[in-house]
Amino acid sequence: MCGIIGFAGNLPAKNILIDGLEQLEYRGYDSAGIAVMDPEKGIIIKKKVGRVADLRDAAKDMETSAVTGIGHTRWATHGGVTDVNAHPHRVGQVTLLHNGIIENYRELTVQFGLKDKLVSETDSEVVAAFLDMVYEGDPIAAIRKVVKLLSGSFALCIMFDDQPDKIFSVRNVSPLVAAASKSGAIVASDLTALIAYSKEYFVVPEYHILTLTKEGIKVEDLKGNEISPEILTVNWDISAAQKGGYPHFMLKEIYEQPDALARTIMPRVKDGLPFLLDDGIDDEILKKLKRVNIVACGTAMHAGMVGRTVIENKLRIPVTVDIASEFRYKDPIIDEDTLTIVLSQSGETIDTLEALRLAKRKGSKVLSIVNVKGSTIARESDYVLYTHAGPEIAVASTKAYTVQISAMYLLACRIAIVKGIFSEDEARSFIKNLENVGELIKETLLNANNIKRIANFIKIAPDVFYIGRGIDYTMSLEASLKLKEISYIHAEAYAAGELKHGTISLIEEGVPVISEGVPVIAIATDEAVYSKVISNIREVKSRGAYVILISHDENIDDATICDKQIKLPEADATFSVFATAAVLQLIAYYVSDAKGLDVDKPRNLAKSVTVE
Ligand code: M6R
Repeated sequence: MCGIIGFAGNLPAKNILIDGLEQLEYRGYDSAGIAVMDPEKGIIIKKKVGRVADLRDAAKDMETSAVTGIGHTRWATHGGVTDVNAHPHRVGQVTLLHNGIIENYRELTVQFGLKDKLVSETDSEVVAAFLDMVYEGDPIAAIRKVVKLLSGSFALCIMFDDQPDKIFSVRNVSPLVAAASKSGAIVASDLTALIAYSKEYFVVPEYHILTLTKEGIKVEDLKGNEISPEILTVNWDISAAQKGGYPHFMLKEIYEQPDALARTIMPRVKDGLPFLLDDGIDDEILKKLKRVNIVACGTAMHAGMVGRTVIENKLRIPVTVDIASEFRYKDPIIDEDTLTIVLSQSGETIDTLEALRLAKRKGSKVLSIVNVKGSTIARESDYVLYTHAGPEIAVASTKAYTVQISAMYLLACRIAIVKGIFSEDEARSFIKNLENVGELIKETLLNANNIKRIANFIKIAPDVFYIGRGIDYTMSLEASLKLKEISYIHAEAYAAGELKHGTISLIEEGVPVISEGVPVIAIATDEAVYSKVISNIREVKSRGAYVILISHDENIDDATICDKQIKLPEADATFSVFATAAVLQLIAYYVSDAKGLDVDKPRNLAKSVTVE
């Protein structure tokens, strides 16, 4: 969850570290800190509670010619949000920072009598103290000894007082990528911090120790064998990870959806039909599957629910969707005939990764739909269908979600073809519709000002309800997550027919002049259940709700149905989800912005959840 960076090179380390932390800040923003190795003054540490901008301010007067250093932006797990708990931690001759959770930090503290060396409440400082205890002038030997005894997840950047101009790094589970460039060697939690220096990088292998110097990076396993990791190339540039004139990353990413969808869909369509062989997904594996099991977290899990609706409705293949953190502990029913589909933007979500490992142990083949190239989930899957959303920086996921749905649709269509469920014409028509979803989003975005005005009615509400049936219910779930996470308004999603089984008691009229009734955002795109949803809307409307209807209808001029309407471009419900998603994302965005909140970095959250 935290973002970490280490640099050893020819340029002033302070600025490189702080610039890198700014790129990594979406991973956690409780506190930030750097440590540099000054040639005259030795290690200098600056760390404090707050954002990277606060650290930059605090480090303004820090005079140093250091060209080596480490930096950290924290999402607190062990120990409160305080300056002392901020990283880096320094114990004796070791300065260290950490991303992950050291599960046996208490045992290590007791076993090795480290308590008196500790000043913070963090698990990370225990590693620094332990390293300092075993260090006898050979950094690799000390790191080897220590990491063998650590349990949990970690990505560490370490400096030793008597090893000038060197950074050491090692990881288990928590992500790390590294690059050797003209400016120096750099290691970081993700590519956004590296890309300004190099387009070529490698994924740091687990339990391998890196030594970074201005000459390059040495990688060795725990036995001391040097290895040459596979070099990968980034297929986007630094501008993709910048705001590009938009006030927030989230808004930029909402607007990037048509392009992201085109990049994900178009290369996989050949002669009007889905083609997944270039991704290594052969028809044999799809032909023999009898069940599908989808596992993911948060928004990715909601994309999986949309996928389930389509696979079940159109292919008649049973699908289960599980929250990865639940799946891991429930002894799931899966076998060799089950295809497990794992969805993850980051490819690093720990619960999703562990769910993947469990599914494999149970004999299921795993196909992952992942955005980050070379991520752990991608590497451990049997098959990978990469989405090409580019870097998603806002904590609230938007473009990653719609491209995940598009990848599920490509897959569903291919399965339908190989199993003889779709005729060629049906498959062609499905793909034609899929190729058009970017246009649906573009048309929807033209309506942004209207959506912004509607968001103004919502911003004062303490509670908001989303309702829909079938595929629209799955959209409601995602919509309520989106609104909650960035606007802090309590929001709930209900299957439209379910509200009256209890929750309708929460619907009440507003106080005239001061407020409207409880907002109910109703999604009605599916012709098959349209009239049912309208009846459900009338039920809440007649009890005082302030209803915002999202549908294909031409202007509804009927105050007994809705107060506001957001019209979607004409499309079948299966493909309307893309336009609906854009509307719901914009509602959440504009509400959060109107409330003056930090849209891209909502409180208590971090982009990539690498702790359980
Ligand atoms: O990187 P992943 O797709 O595995 O992340 C899963 C969730 O943590 C993520 O979708 C989260 O729910 C977002 N903040 C939602 O906007």
